[in-house]
Amino acid sequence: MNHTYSLSKHIISCPVIAVFADHTGVHPFLSRLSARDRAYGSAALNRFKAGWLECEKLTFPSGTASHALLVGLGEKKQWNRRRFCLAARKIVQQIKNIKQKACAVLLDDLSLPGTPLSECAEIFAQNAEMAQYAYRAYLKKPKEGWGDVEQIQYATRGVAGGRVLQRALDLGAVIGQHINEARELANTPGGDMTPTVLARYARQQGRKYGIRVTVLGEAQMKKLGMGAILGVSRGSSEEAKLIVLEYHGASSKKKPIVFVGKGITFDSGGLNLKPTGALEEMHMDMSGGAAVISSLVALARMKARAHVIGIIPAVENMPSGSSYRPGDILRAMSGTTIEITNTDAEGRVVLADALTYAKKFSPSLVVDIATLTGACAVALGPHAAGVFSRDEDLVGRLCQYGEQSGDYLWPLPLWEEYEEELKGTVADIRNAKKTRDGGATNGALFLHAFAKDFPAWAHIDIAPTMTTIPSQGLSGGSRGAGTALLIRIARQEK
Ligand code: BES
Ligand code: MN
Ligand code: ZN
Repeated sequence: MNHTYSLSKHIISCPVIAVFADHTGVHPFLSRLSARDRAYGSAALNRFKAGWLECEKLTFPSGTASHALLVGLGEKKQWNRRRFCLAARKIVQQIKNIKQKACAVLLDDLSLPGTPLSECAEIFAQNAEMAQYAYRAYLKKPKEGWGDVEQIQYATRGVAGGRVLQRALDLGAVIGQHINEARELANTPGGDMTPTVLARYARQQGRKYGIRVTVLGEAQMKKLGMGAILGVSRGSSEEAKLIVLEYHGASSKKKPIVFVGKGITFDSGGLNLKPTGALEEMHMDMSGGAAVISSLVALARMKARAHVIGIIPAVENMPSGSSYRPGDILRAMSGTTIEITNTDAEGRVVLADALTYAKKFSPSLVVDIATLTGACAVALGPHAAGVFSRDEDLVGRLCQYGEQSGDYLWPLPLWEEYEEELKGTVADIRNAKKTRDGGATNGALFLHAFAKDFPAWAHIDIAPTMTTIPSQGLSGGSRGAGTALLIRIARQEK
């Protein structure tokens, strides 16, 4: 999709007229039409109630523009950044529905008080890209094509700042495209998206965009003593990979930020096999890893001034004659022994070794991101991912980045009171406790045991936001959660 800043007089495509419920007067896009079309458009606009996301297609009598789209933004006092994202997606969907290939938006229509128009441009482009995406790898292309929107023209009431706006549009488009790349990786069936395939994708992207990518196989992991990753991987015939990406966009003296992403390419639960209903979506259990890869690629494409490392333990969790068993004890790279009480609590186990490996980069900040617990989804519902850290300041900043990026976060406790129950009986730590209560915190606390030495660390549980929900104006399947958030973190925390 093309995103171009255009002067209002150069608008050639379907004008989008977005207005609040209390709108009055004429719209700049209408004033450019022939007298007859303008009269027709104004009458329609005057009648238009502009309820939240209400849309109406106009077809002009004399055709100085073929169509226009009226979009209701609802009550002005309820207008905010969250609604802005949904409105941008709705516009793209509607333009597609009325079979237009291009449209024009007046950014001022959607402006957010206190937010520069350039930032609005960035958010619009990001969300427009997100709205366009659908997983189509296995669908037959219809004769008439997919009907994608090919171009959006962006105008403003003023004429200054075109370059800044274009740059913002380009940034937003890159972010949106790589959110979609993360969705594509996650939507790919488990049989196609193995650790090897994920590693190959990371390598290709690294070569293309100037990111150093190193992939460790099982032999190398064995030498490093990564008994936790190797333990989980044992039941699968797919080889585990530790994917390491290094993006160097800042001075080499700067300590890096490390992102660690859970890369379980399929989570069957292992010998604690998941029941029907819980298995179907588990090819998306590498969503955290996808977010890490995609965010680094986007940062490289943006030439962001940041030093960021990505680490993804890519593993398949399968039941077989060689699987790790409940009751087995694994020795992690850190030396800590892990009593496996549930083979379905595998994410924390592979992340333990990945966190230990992160130490070699002496990071200033480590953020891990994982579809870790169903319990987190139970606690928060589908609108926020959980954030856990004992650094309250960091939690505050991360929640802010969540708000800015559209990956909303909500804090959950990481209190030491919960630690007692994670003690092992015959090993240092157990990977799951006996009851399901407080499951999200238990997972986070397990990771904390391997992240104690970092100057700053936070865990983000994206199990709640792994897939889209209908009200979001996105296609079904993976939501691409975390990509935009990690990009924000890297751009702000330097
Ligand atoms: N990948 C799952 C968590 C998950 C569930 C993510 C649903 C997205 C949607 C994770 O590996 C898991 O199985 N967690 C268990 C932990 C339990 C065994 C302690 C869970 O949530 O039930
Ligand atoms: Mn599991
Ligand atoms: Zn899992």
